[in-house]
Amino acid sequence: MAKATRVNHIAILVDDAEKSLNFWRDVLGMQVSHVEQIPAEESKVFFLPIGDVTIELVQPDSADSSLTRFLEKRGPGMHHICLEVDDLLGMLDRFRGKGIHVINEVPLVGLDGVMYVFIHPKSTNGVLVELYELPE
Ligand code: CO
Repeated sequence: MAKATRVNHIAILVDDAEKSLNFWRDVLGMQVSHVEQIPAEESKVFFLPIGDVTIELVQPDSADSSLTRFLEKRGPGMHHICLEVDDLLGMLDRFRGKGIHVINEVPLVGLDGVMYVFIHPKSTNGVLVELYELPE
């Protein structure tokens, strides 16, 4: 049976990455491993690995992306948690039977070959959840 196996990352939406880095980097002593411009998300992402998990600070760089609207409505804060699963298509099959609302019904594939979907917070009792299936 398909199952979630580990946490991959936790994404935090920020309006001002430097302000957030004042906490995550300068107070907690975490390090930014790299920074990436992600065109699909119209964002600049700062990656801060901690153990097996990465904290991602996501700073929208477009005036009218959905992330910018989210930021305007809710302010900076937790955006989503990403879990790795061992069988994403099997998981999606199960979701259909349980009425779980997946935001992108067809999994997207990232540049690095990761297959991913987002589950609507209405189906998780309040948390936007991203699921990853890593390439072999
Ligand atoms: Co994510």
